[in-house]
Amino acid sequence: MKSQQLKSFMEENRIQQKQMAQMLGVSVATVSLYLRGEYNGDVSEIDRKVDEMFERQKAKVVEAKYNAGFVPTLAAKRGMEVMRFAHVEGEINVIFGAAGLGKTQMLKQYAKQNSSAVLIEVDPSCTPKVLLRKIAEAVGATARGVNNELLDIIVSKLKGSERLLMIDEAELLSTRSLEFIRRIHDLAGVGVVLAGMPRLLVNLKGKNNELAQLYSRVGFACDLGNALPDDDLAMLAKSALGTDEFNAPLLKACKGNARRLSKLMRGVVRSSEINGVPISAELVERYAGMLIS
Ligand SMILES: Nc1ncnc2c1ncn2[C@@H]1O[C@H](COP(=O)(O)OP(=O)(O)O)[C@@H](O)[C@H]1O
Ligand SMILES: [Mg+2]
Repeated sequence: MKSQQLKSFMEENRIQQKQMAQMLGVSVATVSLYLRGEYNGDVSEIDRKVDEMFERQKAKVVEAKYNAGFVPTLAAKRGMEVMRFAHVEGEINVIFGAAGLGKTQMLKQYAKQNSSAVLIEVDPSCTPKVLLRKIAEAVGATARGVNNELLDIIVSKLKGSERLLMIDEAELLSTRSLEFIRRIHDLAGVGVVLAGMPRLLVNLKGKNNELAQLYSRVGFACDLGNALPDDDLAMLAKSALGTDEFNAPLLKACKGNARRLSKLMRGVVRSSEINGVPISAELVERYAGMLIS
């Protein structure tokens, strides 16, 4: 019976009826009657709420056993150095590499540490207008008008500001959007960081070299390649799990990819919690076999 499960859960965790009523979003009277098996309302409805509450508790345990904080890996340090250059020198710098190597994480960390850095995320449907509006909004300017008006507003806001404009997933930007970025950089004199997949570099040259102006302005490019070094992956694994005991099977299974590693570790932690079994190399291998990519 679900109500018995709830009763033991409350006893184990010393949760009073009043608190449980809040957790479930029902009245104290309902909890009291439900626990005694005397609830006259829709019992299945409460059962469902109890199940959902159990699921949330499990998720919390996983969060508690998995540290998702930023880790200053070698790759992240290299990337952040390039961001720092762009910021201080007012340059356009580029960070590129395969998906899942930690580009977004390092940009976020830089923005967190530097309030004068603004991070813009673009998506595949991002037109120049949408991009300019996003930038205007992020720098605290009015996001209205036609493209050239938006450009003026952004430039006047950024001029002499020593801010850094960071664009994540910049490989999704069209030639026209990239051209606007160059003009913001030229007119406002602020640093720019473009981060994205390797084809970003190809886009930056322009298919017919139409972006020669932009490309010639790029100062440094940080190439993260296709995979992270083992030392970085080892650091990520140890930080997330609080131990390096499982580094060998984890590193073997993650194929140099931080996203794959983190998915794998979350799966393993969750499974270990839900089934009450300790983490082991076998568990890691079993989960690795279920990862899609
Ligand atoms: N420096 C880091 N610190 C902590 N976790 C990281 C770090 N780099 C990568 N990760 C993990 O890898 C995943 C993918 O990183 P992300 O920055 O989204 O990659 P990218 O933007 O290059 O595709 C993150 O969700 C996170 O779990
Ligand atoms: Mg990303």
